[in-house]
Amino acid sequence: MCGIVGYIGKNRADQIVIEALKRLEYRGYDSAGVAIGDGQRIRIIKKKGKVDDLKRLIDKDELSGTIGIGHTRWATHGVPSDRNAHPFRAHDIVVVHNGIIENHLEIKERLKKKGYRFQSDTDTEVIPNLILYYTREGFDLVGAVRRAVKDLKGSYALAILREKERILVGVRHESPLLIGVGDGEYFIASDAPALISKTNRFIFLEDGDIAVLTDDGVRILDRNGENVEREIREVNWTPMMAEKGGFKHFMLKEIYEQPSSISDTILGRILEEKGEIHFEELEEMPLSRIRKFWMVACGTSYHACLIGKYIFERNLKIPVEVDLASEFRYREPPVRKGDFLILISQSGETADTIAAMREGKKRGAYTLSICNVLGSTLSRETDSTIFTRAGPEIGVASTKAFTTQIAVLFMLMLFFASRMKTKEKKEIKKMISELKKIPHKVNEVLEGGAKIEEMSKKYMYYKNFLYLGRGINFPTVLEGALKLKEISYIHAEGYAAGEMKHGPIALIDERMPVLCLSPGDSTYSKMCSNIEEVISRQGKVILITDMDSHGMAKKVEDVFVVPKTIYELQPIVSVIPLQLFAYHIANFLGTDVDQPRNLAKSVTVE
Ligand code: M6R
Repeated sequence: MCGIVGYIGKNRADQIVIEALKRLEYRGYDSAGVAIGDGQRIRIIKKKGKVDDLKRLIDKDELSGTIGIGHTRWATHGVPSDRNAHPFRAHDIVVVHNGIIENHLEIKERLKKKGYRFQSDTDTEVIPNLILYYTREGFDLVGAVRRAVKDLKGSYALAILREKERILVGVRHESPLLIGVGDGEYFIASDAPALISKTNRFIFLEDGDIAVLTDDGVRILDRNGENVEREIREVNWTPMMAEKGGFKHFMLKEIYEQPSSISDTILGRILEEKGEIHFEELEEMPLSRIRKFWMVACGTSYHACLIGKYIFERNLKIPVEVDLASEFRYREPPVRKGDFLILISQSGETADTIAAMREGKKRGAYTLSICNVLGSTLSRETDSTIFTRAGPEIGVASTKAFTTQIAVLFMLMLFFASRMKTKEKKEIKKMISELKKIPHKVNEVLEGGAKIEEMSKKYMYYKNFLYLGRGINFPTVLEGALKLKEISYIHAEGYAAGEMKHGPIALIDERMPVLCLSPGDSTYSKMCSNIEEVISRQGKVILITDMDSHGMAKKVEDVFVVPKTIYELQPIVSVIPLQLFAYHIANFLGTDVDQPRNLAKSVTVE
């Protein structure tokens, strides 16, 4: 998963591909590689590390040719290494891939039986092998690609070459891919910024499209194999705008990426027929009786832990203790052998979380990390790791990492529930089907984003905010308040609504907006009373609810309605308006949204 580029034309492909890969560096990656064709051979050079390291190797090697593909990899299957870097070759077929092949193990087994051999730990390697298989069955390259993609389940954008052929093939399926149209030369890229210095004319492929690029032009086949015309669009983006996909800030882009990052995180982990959750990463995990869970993290990841506690305890009936990583190791936590310690971190490099993990290990706990970065310290040192597949998160304020962490916690609960038999199969199936609807529901919230933007204008000059929620939405409001604090520098406090009477109520007057999360669940009537209490003290209530006719809707200042889902998944849907609210206020105030003052993306000191 990360960046794809491809070129066919009259110029040196290695230089063009390297330049395009450099332009994708801002997205983060762990290794890079190119494949360049000289009409006869295709030569591959790939390396863990930076594009500059790769360039030095290429310069030494004098790679020449006018057709080529390249890739920057953000590992999802297999650690970052030279061996797992793209491109991958199977005899004369060479492929780079973004996305996840859900059924790669199945295809690998099938091909192994036919004598195919694999060298890497990636899911991608099955693709060139599958295409090779079909060329050997008599298909030409395009026919073999068409045939192969029918076997693939998951998400993929591909760029494909074959030795001795001057054809560059691109495939798009639930992972972006576009064609750049130049003057007598054509390009492929996963993202426009890669090509912005070469052309401003793009064809944005649609799902299921196969693009065939030759020296004479571009032909596009749709999912049925019919030739289709796709409009060439001129975009006038500056390189900065292009990097952010047309969004003003990375944070906003990442908020809008959540439907796809959640889909990617779920992908391949649901065993539909069995009605179970499967984590490839946990195959080796011994499943003895678990006495107690611990969940430990910092910042936003800590809020995910708090939500995890609600999800786990309600469904597994095993106690979960949640700790801030910076507190955990200094309080002599009574962790014992047989305890299960879950550490959550987007970066996997947060010093306090790493220290907590080491402390827990010392005390005999089994350690599992939930991380977004393959090869990170935390993922290397814990007994096992589940990777969220949010893709690189560049904005300092965590957004898509948070919602994918909750998705993983929910799946992990279902994984334990079936292993421990604490839930009926049909209940698990029902919960899985709710999970599958989440990306769509998040999208629905995002479609209503303009309303939040409008609301933000009204509240941007207030100096203090209170965020109230109950139950599983208590940690959600903590997260909403953190978002507002860190990017807008406005003071905001998240509170369990029931605690309001025990102190914060003293703060409420007409200068205090109070954001209330109030779904139609068992907390509804209590939340209504809390809202009444705020209104009667002239506080301005912003209500976020999943009810079309909430009892307080007419009395509050503003209402935003989110789609309904099950209790455990509510935070994913409810946090989206809170992220947008914080973003738009900060944007209107003109703060440095992506790099707020005093904050670092990864806190590597204790
Ligand atoms: O990489 P991690 O998830 O371990 O980072 C933990 C916190 O530093 C992080 O969540 C921080 O609170 C963010 N700025 C929140 O937006």
